[in-house]
Amino acid sequence: FKVPTPVNEPVLSYGKGSSEKIALKKAIAEACSKQIDIPMYIGSEQIHTDNKIKLSPPHDHQHVLGYASEGDTSHVEKAIQAALAARPAWSALSWEQRASIFLKAADLLAGPYRAKINAATMLGQSKNAYQAEIDSACELIDFLRFNVAFMEQVYTNQPESVRGLWNRVEYRPLEGFVYALTPFNFTAIAGNLPSCVAMMGNVTVWKPAYTQIYSANVIMEVFREAGLPDGVINLIYVDGPAAGDVIFKHADFAGIHFTGSTKVFQTIWKTIGENIHLYKSYPRIVGETGGKDFVMAHESADAKALATGLVRGAFEYQGQKCSAASRAYIPSNIWEEVKGYVVADLKEIKMGGTEDFSNFVNAVIDERAFDKIATYIDNAKASDNVTVLAGGNYDKSKGYFIEPTVLLTSDPNYITMCEEIFGPVLTIYVYEAADYEQTLELVNATSPYALTGAIFAKDRYAIDLATKKLVDAAGNFYINDKPTGAVVGQQPFGGGRASGTNDKAGSILNLFRWIQPRTIKETF
Ligand code: SER
Repeated sequence: FKVPTPVNEPVLSYGKGSSEKIALKKAIAEACSKQIDIPMYIGSEQIHTDNKIKLSPPHDHQHVLGYASEGDTSHVEKAIQAALAARPAWSALSWEQRASIFLKAADLLAGPYRAKINAATMLGQSKNAYQAEIDSACELIDFLRFNVAFMEQVYTNQPESVRGLWNRVEYRPLEGFVYALTPFNFTAIAGNLPSCVAMMGNVTVWKPAYTQIYSANVIMEVFREAGLPDGVINLIYVDGPAAGDVIFKHADFAGIHFTGSTKVFQTIWKTIGENIHLYKSYPRIVGETGGKDFVMAHESADAKALATGLVRGAFEYQGQKCSAASRAYIPSNIWEEVKGYVVADLKEIKMGGTEDFSNFVNAVIDERAFDKIATYIDNAKASDNVTVLAGGNYDKSKGYFIEPTVLLTSDPNYITMCEEIFGPVLTIYVYEAADYEQTLELVNATSPYALTGAIFAKDRYAIDLATKKLVDAAGNFYINDKPTGAVVGQQPFGGGRASGTNDKAGSILNLFRWIQPRTIKETF
């Protein structure tokens, strides 16, 4: 018995006249032709309430895609009880039985649901077709298939035995329920956080960001169609702090799988610490939080490849990736050449909604994000230490559109070099080529985060020095490539310092966090 060997799901081209393009256009038109009413899923029930959350595309905020039913603390308690009720039967299934549900979900996403989930991600989260395809199709499918292969490695990992003595380890699920708190920016992460926990025999309460509800609902449809039993994943829409009040006081709270802001994660960690005496077990705390991801260049770098890395790394999905390039360090002797390529690339970039598949930049997620990013841009315009090299304009009349903005600063500690912005803003600091080593120290010390980073250089000694000096500065370190776009099964993803617990999404390390092993020794 062996699970299918996973291979990364191929990214479809969406070229002119392709069947995938036709299917996606049709799914978008269909989604726009009606308003849907999204329920919460608790146990066997689909729950509608009178409190409705309006769902609109960020690029067209007057259009209504539908409504979702918001719950209150009673729904949180109900979801916990449904999860606990489902636990005995679910945890008693063999891991192969559980695995087959998630393999089927992957196949549904790769086939009949591909257009629907991509359309939902494009409309609900303002991704372009390519960004939706690599996220809600390929990455989510990869998470499911690779995690099933990692499951096999976990469950078949057994200690040695000798004659007259048989040792074995049972990989039991955690005793209680796990809370999955997921972000808006990746449909794949939203699907992965509850599902990899469930694979390991656990039951979950899943609360997505309100700005991702539209595609979360499709993920839930897929899991249900794949045969996921009621109550294993309970999907609720409740205000975060209100939900936390119930969850973190519960004796059966066994862990949290989180992706979101550093601030929220730290608040949650403190709350768990304060309530530690209430729990049956020490909860697992797994979180991926912010980033202030760097691109460092050496004078030997290929200027064209560097410019492409900067533009794609900083502006794909409007910079709303925790891995996005947001601060760059370029030596003065190659700067003019790099600048020429960056400015030329940005002139080519088209901005707009989902209606035109050639749009590279779409809207940012909501008005709050728009206002916050616009304030950073306004302050930069007013600062003596900053020049706006490209972009700098924004407009929220129809959608929350912000031009890809490149700032050039003479101060390596200027605020946009240090703070996470989570939007299409890249700040560049130009250094003297002779100061390469000191600049590496600056890169390491400027930000509290350590998620991703990249070094562009041809010189092997320069690459070696950067790799050593920046050893703790990035959990994902890229040599001659942009710092975004980790591929499941190839580059396990996660960082340290203020960026998270570095439990690498889509890896065996992560799955080990969701089990409590029991060792059995039997003598004959
Ligand atoms: N995994 C994504 C990336 O690498 C970020 O979450 O870009």
